Amino acid sequence: MPNQLFSKKPLDVLLGELKGEHRLRRILGPVQLTSLGVGAIIGTGIFVLTGVAAHDKTGPALMLSFVVAGIACIFAALCYAEFAAMVPVAGSAYTYAYATLGELFAWIIGWDLVLEYAVGSATVANGWSHYFQDFIGLFGFKIPEVLANAPFDYDPKLGHLVATDTFMNLPALVITFVLTVVLVKGIQESASINAAMVIVKLAVVFFVIIVGAFYIDPANWTRDFAPYGYTGLSFFGHSIAGMTDAGGAPLGMMAGAATIFFAYIGFDSVSTHSEEARNPQRDVPIGIIVSLIVCTLLYILVSAVLTGMVPYNQIDINAPVSKAFEAKGLPWAQFVISLGALTGITSVLLVMMLSQPRVMLAMARDGLVPQSFFGAIHDKFRTPWKSTILTGCAVGIMSAFLPLRILAELVNIGTLLAFVIVCAAVLVMRKTHPDAHRPFRVPLSPFVPIAGIAICMLLMFSLPVENWYRLIIWLAVGIAIYFFYGKKHSHLRGQLAHEIQSHGVSPAGSPTIDPMAPPMFPEEPVDGRLDDEKDGH
Ligand code: ALA
Repeated sequence: MPNQLFSKKPLDVLLGELKGEHRLRRILGPVQLTSLGVGAIIGTGIFVLTGVAAHDKTGPALMLSFVVAGIACIFAALCYAEFAAMVPVAGSAYTYAYATLGELFAWIIGWDLVLEYAVGSATVANGWSHYFQDFIGLFGFKIPEVLANAPFDYDPKLGHLVATDTFMNLPALVITFVLTVVLVKGIQESASINAAMVIVKLAVVFFVIIVGAFYIDPANWTRDFAPYGYTGLSFFGHSIAGMTDAGGAPLGMMAGAATIFFAYIGFDSVSTHSEEARNPQRDVPIGIIVSLIVCTLLYILVSAVLTGMVPYNQIDINAPVSKAFEAKGLPWAQFVISLGALTGITSVLLVMMLSQPRVMLAMARDGLVPQSFFGAIHDKFRTPWKSTILTGCAVGIMSAFLPLRILAELVNIGTLLAFVIVCAAVLVMRKTHPDAHRPFRVPLSPFVPIAGIAICMLLMFSLPVENWYRLIIWLAVGIAIYFFYGKKHSHLRGQLAHEIQSHGVSPAGSPTIDPMAPPMFPEEPVDGRLDDEKDGH
C-alpha cells in the first residue's frame, strides 16, 4: 500500500490551486512585503528581551549573540526564499514540507507554526501590555494590580510556578481584541496601518542608536566583555559547554543567542503572504531577505549601544532601552522610546496574528483541518475571517492568563525546529527534483542549508531543557490530532485511493501519482491578477 504519511503534494497541484476560487487579494508589492517583514521582526525581542539576555546570560557579548542568531536566521531565510519563490501560495513552511517531505512532516510543521504564530502572538501581546502599563505610568495612570498580570508565573530561583495574586492581564486581552477586528476587515487596511507603525519604530530605533552613541563608555565593553563565556550548551539537562545558572539552564553567548532569537522571529511570515503578493516569485525573496538584513544590522547596533551605555549588571530587565536613557539623565527620551516600543510591538502583533489564519487556511485546503471553518473566506472582506476570530480568541486567552516567560521560551524552540525542517527540505528537494524551476536559489548549497540546520540545532540545545519537554508534548498532541482527524480527511488520501483504484500501485509500493510529473513549474510568473479583478469586484 502507498504510505499516505510520506505522500507528497504535487507542486503542479499547488500551483493549480492558485487559479481556483476563494483566493486572497494580490495587492502586496516588494516594499509592502519588506515592511511586513520589518513589522513582524522588531518588537518585544529588541525592546524587552535584550535586558534579560545581557543581564543574566551574556554581558556585552550580547552583540555576538545577535550576530550568531542573525546568521542562523539568514541561512534559514535563504531556504525560505527558495521555497517561497517556487511555491508562492499561503502556508509557508507547511506547504514546502508537504511538497517535499510528505503529509506527516507537513502536519508537524503546520502544528509547529501554530506554536510560532499563535503562542508568539500571545507572547508579544503580553509584552505589549507591560510596555503599555509603563507608558501610561508616565502620565500617572495605573491598571489595577489584579488586572495587570497573569495569575501565575514561573520562578527560576524556586524552579516552580508561583501565584502572583492577580487575576488576568487585561491590556493584553484588549489589544488582541482590537487587532482581531482590524484583521477581519482586511489585508489592505492592515498593511497600511503596519507601514505607518514600521516607520515610527524604525525612527525610534535610529534615535536610540544615534543619540545613544554619544553616551557610550567603551570601558563597559572592555571591562568584562563575556562574563558568562562564549558558549552555553546543554543536552537534556546535562551541561556540554559553558556555565549554568542555579536551575541548570545554560549561560553564555550562545545561551543568549537562543534567548534573543525571539527578536528575529517574524521574517518567515513574509512567506505566508505569498498568495497576496503581486509578483511573489521575485518580491517574496526580496521581502524576506531585505527585512532580515536590515533588522540584523539594527540589532547589533542597538545591543552595542545598550551595553556601552550601561554596565551589563545594571541593565534593566523590563524596559532596558528606555531605562538606559533615563539613567543617563534623559527622561524625555524615555517617553519617545516607550512610545516607539509600544508602536513596534503592536505592529509585530498585527503581522503575527495575520499569519496564523493563513497557515490554517493552507491546511484546510488540504483537508487536514475542517475546511468549512478554517478555509472560509469572507465574501466582502476576502479574509479568512472565522479562523482569524478563533486565533484572536486563543491569543487573547493565552496572553491574559499565561506568563511571558513560559510563552516566549516555547515559541523559540518551536520556531527553530521549523527552520531546521525548512533547511532540510531544501536539501531533499534539490536531490529529488534537481530540474524544477527555481526563480530563487539558495547560494552555496548544500553549505548554507546544512550550516542553517547545524546552527539552529545548537541554539535549540542552548535553551533550558524544559523547552524540549514542552515541545515534545506539543508535537505529541499535534500528532494525535493528525491521526484522529487530519489523516482521515486529507484530500491527498482521497486522491491516492482514487489513483490506486484506477491504476494500481507501483511495484515498490509507492503512490502511483508522480508528485513531480512535468511540467512542474510555469516558466512565467504565476498569474497575479486578483480574483476580484476577474470577478469584477
Ligand atoms: N521578533 C518579534 C519580536 O521581537 C517576535 O517581538
